[in-house]
Amino acid sequence: MKNNFQVSQNGKLKHLLSTDGLSREIIIEIFDMAESFLKISSRDVKKVPLLRGKTVCNLFFENSTRTRTTFEIAAKRLSADVINLDVPTSSQSKGESILDTVNNLIAMGADIFVIRHGTPRIPELIAQNVGNDVHIINGGDGNHAHPTQGLLDTFTIRRFKKDFSELKVAIVGDIKHSRVARSEICALSTLGVPEIRIIGPENLMPDDLDHLNLIHFNNLNRGLKNVDVIMMLRLQKERMDDGDIPSEEEYFKQYGLKREHLKIAHPDAIIMHPGPINRGIEIESEVADSKQSVILSQVTYGIAIRMAVMTMLVSKKV
Ligand code: CP
Repeated sequence: MKNNFQVSQNGKLKHLLSTDGLSREIIIEIFDMAESFLKISSRDVKKVPLLRGKTVCNLFFENSTRTRTTFEIAAKRLSADVINLDVPTSSQSKGESILDTVNNLIAMGADIFVIRHGTPRIPELIAQNVGNDVHIINGGDGNHAHPTQGLLDTFTIRRFKKDFSELKVAIVGDIKHSRVARSEICALSTLGVPEIRIIGPENLMPDDLDHLNLIHFNNLNRGLKNVDVIMMLRLQKERMDDGDIPSEEEYFKQYGLKREHLKIAHPDAIIMHPGPINRGIEIESEVADSKQSVILSQVTYGIAIRMAVMTMLVSKKV
Protein backbone atom coordinates (compact mmCIF):
# COMPACT_ATOMS: atom_id res chain seq x y z
CA MET A 1 0.00 0.00 0.00
CA LYS A 2 1.41 3.37 -0.99
CA ASN A 3 1.90 6.02 1.70
CA ASN A 4 0.28 8.81 -0.28
CA PHE A 5 -0.67 10.72 2.83
CA GLN A 6 3.02 11.49 3.36
CA VAL A 7 2.55 14.22 0.72
CA SER A 8 -0.15 16.88 1.21
CA GLN A 9 -2.70 17.73 -1.48
CA ASN A 10 -0.60 20.70 -2.59
CA GLY A 11 2.41 18.43 -3.13
CA LYS A 12 4.37 19.31 0.01
CA LEU A 13 6.25 16.54 1.85
CA LYS A 14 4.58 16.17 5.29
CA HIS A 15 6.18 12.92 6.47
CA LEU A 16 8.70 10.51 4.95
CA LEU A 17 7.43 6.98 5.49
CA SER A 18 8.31 5.10 2.31
CA THR A 19 9.78 5.63 -1.14
CA ASP A 20 6.75 3.74 -2.49
CA GLY A 21 4.46 6.40 -3.92
CA LEU A 22 7.04 9.18 -3.69
CA SER A 23 7.02 11.08 -6.99
CA ARG A 24 10.06 11.51 -9.22
CA GLU A 25 9.72 15.31 -8.75
CA ILE A 26 10.02 15.05 -4.95
CA ILE A 27 12.95 12.61 -5.17
CA ILE A 28 14.81 14.90 -7.59
CA GLU A 29 14.05 17.93 -5.36
CA ILE A 30 15.58 16.04 -2.40
CA PHE A 31 18.64 15.10 -4.50
CA ASP A 32 19.18 18.64 -5.79
CA MET A 33 18.86 20.08 -2.30
CA ALA A 34 21.26 17.40 -0.98
CA GLU A 35 23.83 18.57 -3.56
CA SER A 36 23.77 22.03 -2.00
CA PHE A 37 24.11 20.52 1.49
CA LEU A 38 27.13 18.51 0.34
CA LYS A 39 28.82 21.82 -0.49
CA ILE A 40 27.95 23.17 2.97
CA SER A 41 29.29 19.98 4.57
CA SER A 42 32.67 20.56 2.94
CA ARG A 43 33.07 24.07 4.44
CA ASP A 44 34.92 24.82 7.68
CA VAL A 45 31.69 26.11 9.19
CA LYS A 46 29.15 23.42 8.35
CA LYS A 47 26.09 25.02 9.91
CA VAL A 48 23.10 26.75 8.34
CA PRO A 49 20.11 28.15 10.27
CA LEU A 50 17.33 26.39 8.35
CA LEU A 51 16.03 24.44 11.37
CA ARG A 52 16.93 27.00 14.06
CA GLY A 53 14.31 26.80 16.83
CA LYS A 54 13.16 23.33 15.76
CA THR A 55 13.63 20.15 17.78
CA VAL A 56 14.43 16.79 16.20
CA CYS A 57 13.80 13.69 18.28
CA ASN A 58 15.51 10.38 17.47
CA LEU A 59 13.38 7.48 18.72
CA PHE A 60 15.24 4.25 17.96
CA PHE A 61 13.66 1.01 19.20
CA GLU A 62 16.25 -1.00 17.23
CA ASN A 63 20.02 -0.51 17.21
CA SER A 64 21.68 1.84 14.76
CA THR A 65 25.05 3.40 14.07
CA ARG A 66 24.70 5.18 10.71
CA THR A 67 21.06 6.28 10.62
CA ARG A 68 20.83 7.66 14.14
CA THR A 69 24.21 9.39 14.04
CA THR A 70 23.78 10.94 10.58
CA PHE A 71 20.31 12.22 11.50
CA GLU A 72 21.84 13.84 14.58
CA ILE A 73 24.69 15.38 12.57
CA ALA A 74 22.24 16.51 9.85
CA ALA A 75 19.92 18.14 12.39
CA LYS A 76 22.83 19.89 14.12
CA ARG A 77 24.19 21.19 10.80
CA LEU A 78 20.73 22.67 10.24
CA SER A 79 20.96 24.30 13.72
CA ALA A 80 18.13 22.24 15.25
CA ASP A 81 18.09 21.00 18.83
CA VAL A 82 18.38 17.21 19.01
CA ILE A 83 17.02 14.74 21.53
CA ASN A 84 18.25 11.14 21.36
CA LEU A 85 15.81 9.28 23.58
CA ASP A 86 17.56 6.34 25.22
CA VAL A 87 14.70 3.91 24.74
CA PRO A 88 15.94 1.13 27.09
CA THR A 89 16.11 3.59 30.03
CA SER A 90 12.95 5.51 29.05
CA SER A 91 9.50 5.05 30.56
CA GLN A 92 8.69 2.57 27.79
CA SER A 93 9.95 0.01 30.31
CA LYS A 94 7.12 1.07 32.67
CA GLY A 95 4.50 0.29 30.04
CA GLU A 96 4.09 3.66 28.30
CA SER A 97 2.79 3.30 24.74
CA ILE A 98 4.86 4.68 21.87
CA LEU A 99 2.07 7.14 21.04
CA ASP A 100 2.03 8.44 24.62
CA THR A 101 5.81 8.80 24.49
CA VAL A 102 5.55 10.76 21.22
CA ASN A 103 2.74 12.98 22.57
CA ASN A 104 4.77 13.79 25.68
CA LEU A 105 7.76 14.73 23.52
CA ILE A 106 5.48 16.91 21.37
CA ALA A 107 4.32 18.61 24.59
CA MET A 108 8.02 19.38 25.19
CA GLY A 109 8.23 20.99 21.74
CA ALA A 110 9.49 18.24 19.39
CA ASP A 111 8.83 19.06 15.71
CA ILE A 112 10.39 16.12 13.82
CA PHE A 113 10.60 12.50 14.92
CA VAL A 114 12.92 9.93 13.37
CA ILE A 115 11.45 6.57 14.34
CA ARG A 116 13.06 3.14 13.94
CA HIS A 117 10.99 0.17 15.05
CA GLY A 118 11.04 -3.59 14.53
CA THR A 119 7.33 -3.66 13.66
CA PRO A 120 6.35 -2.61 10.12
CA ARG A 121 4.26 0.59 9.78
CA ILE A 122 4.73 1.93 13.33
CA PRO A 123 6.02 5.27 11.92
CA GLU A 124 2.93 5.41 9.68
CA LEU A 125 0.66 4.80 12.68
CA ILE A 126 2.35 7.64 14.56
CA ALA A 127 2.07 9.94 11.51
CA GLN A 128 -1.69 9.31 11.41
CA ASN A 129 -2.00 10.45 15.02
CA VAL A 130 0.02 13.67 15.20
CA GLY A 131 -0.93 17.25 14.33
CA ASN A 132 -0.08 19.06 11.10
CA ASP A 133 3.02 20.75 12.54
CA VAL A 134 4.71 17.49 13.52
CA HIS A 135 6.66 15.45 10.97
CA ILE A 136 7.53 11.76 11.09
CA ILE A 137 10.50 10.19 9.31
CA ASN A 138 10.70 6.43 9.08
CA GLY A 139 14.20 5.42 10.18
CA GLY A 140 13.48 1.77 9.31
CA ASP A 141 10.41 -0.32 10.24
CA GLY A 142 10.71 -4.10 10.25
CA ASN A 143 11.19 -5.40 6.72
CA HIS A 144 8.90 -2.69 5.30
CA ALA A 145 10.87 0.46 4.46
CA HIS A 146 13.97 2.54 5.15
CA PRO A 147 13.26 5.51 2.89
CA THR A 148 16.24 7.75 3.70
CA GLN A 149 18.54 4.77 3.03
CA GLY A 150 16.79 4.17 -0.30
CA LEU A 151 17.21 7.84 -1.15
CA LEU A 152 20.84 8.11 -0.10
CA ASP A 153 21.66 4.95 -2.06
CA THR A 154 20.00 6.20 -5.25
CA PHE A 155 21.59 9.64 -4.71
CA THR A 156 24.98 7.87 -4.48
CA ILE A 157 24.22 6.08 -7.76
CA ARG A 158 23.32 9.42 -9.39
CA ARG A 159 26.61 10.94 -8.24
CA PHE A 160 28.66 8.10 -9.73
CA LYS A 161 26.56 7.09 -12.72
CA LYS A 162 24.52 10.16 -13.77
CA ASP A 163 21.92 8.60 -16.10
CA PHE A 164 19.44 6.24 -14.44
CA SER A 165 17.84 5.36 -17.78
CA GLU A 166 20.81 3.26 -18.91
CA LEU A 167 21.59 1.32 -15.76
CA LYS A 168 21.58 -2.32 -14.80
CA VAL A 169 21.43 -2.57 -11.00
CA ALA A 170 21.90 -5.82 -9.05
CA ILE A 171 20.71 -6.15 -5.45
CA VAL A 172 22.27 -9.20 -3.81
CA GLY A 173 21.42 -11.22 -0.71
CA ASP A 174 18.61 -11.26 1.80
CA ILE A 175 15.99 -9.34 -0.19
CA LYS A 176 13.09 -10.95 1.67
CA HIS A 177 13.85 -9.36 5.04
CA SER A 178 15.40 -6.13 3.74
CA ARG A 179 13.61 -2.80 4.20
CA VAL A 180 16.61 -1.24 2.45
CA ALA A 181 16.05 -3.34 -0.68
CA ARG A 182 12.34 -2.44 -0.79
CA SER A 183 13.07 1.28 -0.48
CA GLU A 184 15.82 1.10 -3.09
CA ILE A 185 13.70 -0.86 -5.55
CA CYS A 186 10.79 1.62 -5.31
CA ALA A 187 13.13 4.61 -5.77
CA LEU A 188 15.05 2.98 -8.64
CA SER A 189 11.77 2.14 -10.43
CA THR A 190 10.48 5.69 -10.03
CA LEU A 191 13.77 7.08 -11.31
CA GLY A 192 13.44 4.99 -14.47
CA VAL A 193 16.13 2.33 -14.03
CA PRO A 194 15.29 -0.16 -16.81
CA GLU A 195 16.88 -3.27 -15.32
CA ILE A 196 16.73 -4.17 -11.63
CA ARG A 197 18.03 -7.64 -10.80
CA ILE A 198 17.58 -9.35 -7.47
CA ILE A 199 20.05 -12.13 -6.68
CA GLY A 200 19.92 -14.54 -3.76
CA PRO A 201 18.90 -17.96 -2.51
CA GLU A 202 15.24 -18.84 -3.17
CA ASN A 203 14.52 -18.77 0.61
CA LEU A 204 15.55 -15.12 0.75
CA MET A 205 13.61 -13.92 -2.29
CA PRO A 206 10.61 -11.63 -1.63
CA ASP A 207 7.03 -12.69 -2.30
CA ASP A 208 5.54 -9.17 -2.19
CA LEU A 209 7.33 -7.46 -5.11
CA ASP A 210 5.81 -9.35 -8.05
CA HIS A 211 4.09 -6.17 -9.31
CA LEU A 212 7.53 -4.65 -10.00
CA ASN A 213 9.51 -5.61 -13.05
CA LEU A 214 12.37 -7.36 -11.24
CA ILE A 215 14.60 -10.01 -12.77
CA HIS A 216 15.29 -12.88 -10.35
CA PHE A 217 18.58 -14.82 -10.24
CA ASN A 218 19.62 -17.57 -7.85
CA ASN A 219 23.12 -17.66 -9.35
CA LEU A 220 25.47 -14.80 -8.49
CA ASN A 221 27.73 -15.15 -11.56
CA ARG A 222 24.79 -15.04 -13.97
CA GLY A 223 23.07 -12.19 -12.13
CA LEU A 224 26.13 -9.93 -12.08
CA LYS A 225 26.81 -10.09 -15.83
CA ASN A 226 27.49 -6.52 -17.10
CA VAL A 227 25.79 -4.75 -14.18
CA ASP A 228 26.70 -1.12 -13.43
CA VAL A 229 25.81 -1.19 -9.74
CA ILE A 230 26.24 -4.04 -7.24
CA MET A 231 24.27 -3.45 -4.06
CA MET A 232 25.12 -6.00 -1.38
CA LEU A 233 22.77 -6.53 1.57
CA ARG A 234 23.29 -7.61 5.14
CA LEU A 235 21.84 -10.96 6.20
CA GLN A 236 19.00 -9.79 8.47
CA LYS A 237 19.55 -12.56 11.02
CA GLU A 238 17.14 -10.90 13.47
CA ARG A 239 14.31 -11.48 10.98
CA MET A 240 15.40 -14.81 9.48
CA ASP A 241 14.02 -18.27 10.24
CA ASP A 242 16.26 -21.21 11.16
CA GLY A 243 17.30 -22.92 7.95
CA ASP A 244 16.91 -19.87 5.67
CA ILE A 245 20.57 -20.40 4.80
CA PRO A 246 22.52 -23.66 5.26
CA SER A 247 25.43 -21.87 7.02
CA GLU A 248 27.27 -18.54 6.81
CA GLU A 249 30.24 -20.31 5.19
CA GLU A 250 28.05 -21.82 2.48
CA TYR A 251 26.25 -18.49 1.98
CA PHE A 252 29.57 -16.71 1.49
CA LYS A 253 30.66 -19.39 -0.95
CA GLN A 254 27.55 -18.94 -3.09
CA TYR A 255 26.54 -15.29 -2.60
CA GLY A 256 29.46 -13.45 -1.00
CA LEU A 257 30.95 -10.82 -3.33
CA LYS A 258 34.56 -11.67 -4.12
CA ARG A 259 37.30 -10.20 -6.30
CA GLU A 260 36.57 -12.72 -9.10
CA HIS A 261 33.01 -11.37 -9.49
CA LEU A 262 34.23 -7.90 -10.43
CA LYS A 263 35.38 -9.29 -13.79
CA ILE A 264 31.80 -10.35 -14.57
CA ALA A 265 30.20 -6.96 -13.87
CA HIS A 266 30.82 -3.83 -15.97
CA PRO A 267 34.48 -2.75 -15.46
CA ASP A 268 33.27 0.57 -13.95
CA ALA A 269 30.66 -1.02 -11.69
CA ILE A 270 30.32 0.51 -8.25
CA ILE A 271 29.97 -1.63 -5.13
CA MET A 272 27.54 -0.58 -2.44
CA HIS A 273 26.40 -1.85 0.95
CA PRO A 274 24.10 -0.01 3.38
CA GLY A 275 26.05 -1.27 6.41
CA PRO A 276 26.67 -2.74 8.83
CA ILE A 277 28.91 -5.04 6.78
CA ASN A 278 29.56 -8.61 7.80
CA ARG A 279 32.95 -9.13 6.18
CA GLY A 280 33.56 -12.68 5.01
CA ILE A 281 29.81 -13.41 4.96
CA GLU A 282 28.28 -10.91 2.50
CA ILE A 283 31.45 -9.44 1.01
CA GLU A 284 35.16 -10.11 0.93
CA SER A 285 37.17 -7.45 2.79
CA GLU A 286 39.36 -6.79 -0.23
CA VAL A 287 36.24 -5.94 -2.28
CA ALA A 288 34.60 -3.84 0.45
CA ASP A 289 37.78 -1.73 0.62
CA SER A 290 38.50 -1.70 -3.13
CA LYS A 291 38.58 1.35 -5.42
CA GLN A 292 35.19 0.36 -6.84
CA SER A 293 33.58 0.44 -3.39
CA VAL A 294 31.50 3.56 -2.61
CA ILE A 295 30.32 2.26 0.76
CA LEU A 296 31.74 5.12 2.81
CA SER A 297 30.49 7.70 0.28
CA GLN A 298 26.99 6.34 0.95
CA VAL A 299 27.46 7.24 4.62
CA THR A 300 28.72 10.76 3.85
CA TYR A 301 25.91 11.42 1.37
CA GLY A 302 23.42 10.19 3.97
CA ILE A 303 24.00 13.36 5.98
CA ALA A 304 23.17 15.59 2.99
CA ILE A 305 20.08 13.55 2.09
CA ARG A 306 18.80 13.71 5.68
CA MET A 307 19.45 17.47 5.81
CA ALA A 308 17.41 17.83 2.60
CA VAL A 309 14.52 15.71 3.86
CA MET A 310 14.23 17.58 7.16
CA THR A 311 14.45 20.94 5.40
CA MET A 312 11.66 19.99 3.01
CA LEU A 313 9.45 18.77 5.85
CA VAL A 314 9.57 22.08 7.72
CA SER A 315 9.59 24.35 4.66
CA LYS A 316 6.68 26.75 4.37
CA LYS A 317 5.95 25.86 0.73
CA VAL A 318 2.15 26.05 0.19
N1 CP B 1 22.23 1.33 7.06
C1 CP B 1 21.73 1.42 8.30
O1 CP B 1 20.51 1.60 8.51
O2 CP B 1 22.67 1.34 9.28
P1 CP B 1 22.37 1.45 10.84
O3 CP B 1 21.54 0.26 11.21
O4 CP B 1 23.71 1.48 11.50
O5 CP B 1 21.58 2.71 11.05
